[in-house]
Amino acid sequence: MYIETYGCQMNLADSELVMGILKKQGYEITNEIDKANVILLNTCSVREHAEEKIFHRLDHLKRFKRNNPTTVIGILGCMAERLRKNLIEEKKIVDVVVGPDEYRRLPEYLELAFGGEKGIGVKLSRTETYEDIEPYREDGISAWIAVMRGCDKFCSFCVVPFTRGRERSRSLLSVVKEVEKLSERGFKEVTLLGQNVNSYNDNGKDFADLLAAVASVDRNIRVRFTTSHPQDMSDKLLHTIAEHNNICNYIHLPVQSGSNRILELMNRSYTIEHYLNLIEKARKIIPGVSFSTDIIAGFPTETEEDHQMTLDVMKEIRYDGAYMFKYSPREGTKAYNMKDDVPEEIKIRRLNEIIELQQKISFEINQQLIGSEEVILVEGTSKKSDQFLSGRTDTNKVVIIPKKDNINIGDYVKVRIIRATSATLFGEVN
Ligand code: 5AD
Ligand code: SF4
Repeated sequence: MYIETYGCQMNLADSELVMGILKKQGYEITNEIDKANVILLNTCSVREHAEEKIFHRLDHLKRFKRNNPTTVIGILGCMAERLRKNLIEEKKIVDVVVGPDEYRRLPEYLELAFGGEKGIGVKLSRTETYEDIEPYREDGISAWIAVMRGCDKFCSFCVVPFTRGRERSRSLLSVVKEVEKLSERGFKEVTLLGQNVNSYNDNGKDFADLLAAVASVDRNIRVRFTTSHPQDMSDKLLHTIAEHNNICNYIHLPVQSGSNRILELMNRSYTIEHYLNLIEKARKIIPGVSFSTDIIAGFPTETEEDHQMTLDVMKEIRYDGAYMFKYSPREGTKAYNMKDDVPEEIKIRRLNEIIELQQKISFEINQQLIGSEEVILVEGTSKKSDQFLSGRTDTNKVVIIPKKDNINIGDYVKVRIIRATSATLFGEVN
């Protein structure tokens, strides 16, 4: 079997889960599509564009299927959940459609497909966490661990509560055990994943408890987490991050908009004042903490004034990084019933202003790091040149350093920053 993953990190984790399930059934995993008897696409529905990409990919696979008619093609993930049997009706080459809570039964659906029938499994579950299933992971430095599934927040723009169902947490113990195994295998970084990790709850044990337990497994393993919701971020969590050296000083805290009126329409359940207070508090409790965010441009009814408020908040907070998007209406969400009334060219212009501002801020922040010393975890060879290695700081900044015989992937290395762009730092090792 061969799998392609689109969308968020949760999907990456789910693909490993799916590989784990199929491997146990005797399937062999291959990175070469031509060798596969099963081709799976783990898909994303978060924006229209994400779905368009999959449809293009399916058109491309049509030719493949013509030449290899016995190959089973399956759609997993959020698009499977959203479009269900329509996918099979519209795209004849699709044999199997399985949503995020039915992966356990994937082998059955594949069997059906090998027998010439279509397999559809899209029931959502209130309890499925897959915590007993070991994901398939190649040896490496960094691992994703889904500690929760689903989302109960119902932000008005977001399709995730519909595609991934209700929120539920894995047990703390199962996560700790998984980290212990990763430690034995030499992993150096784990990222705990959930749509809203701050509402993690295992019989009263909250996310701060989970982070502390995970961080205590192996002090040589860095612990990251995403995504945090500004409403649920507790002081206890901030103190926990500060207290554990190996919990990274980096918080992804989506703001979405700087306007209280828009935040309310988005059903984000916080005000910008609450958000700014939270940032201030976090900066006090965790010296040197870095922040990234998500921002949506052109939500329904957004005025120039609202847009300006978003730019103002960005200037005030000075995020280290941001993921920035144009609003995309998603069927079934509350915002879908609102008129998508910001014209496309205005959305594009506002998004570009947001991107330009963020690049300027990131560039300035990174310039200030020149001359400083940072510890990086070396993660691999640089994508651009095999003479260089790539790593990240605790604050999640990518640092490129020259290759050296005594530096290995997985090492923590002290580097001096000598040059910086808005996206990358360049360092030297003494
Ligand atoms: N349109 C644009 N961006 C969206 N996001 C989620 N839904 C939409 C949408 N309908 C963005 C949000 C979220 C990130 C994962 O994707 O910023 O935080
Ligand atoms: Fe991930 Fe959301 Fe996309 Fe689903 S819709 S893959 S949860 S980003």
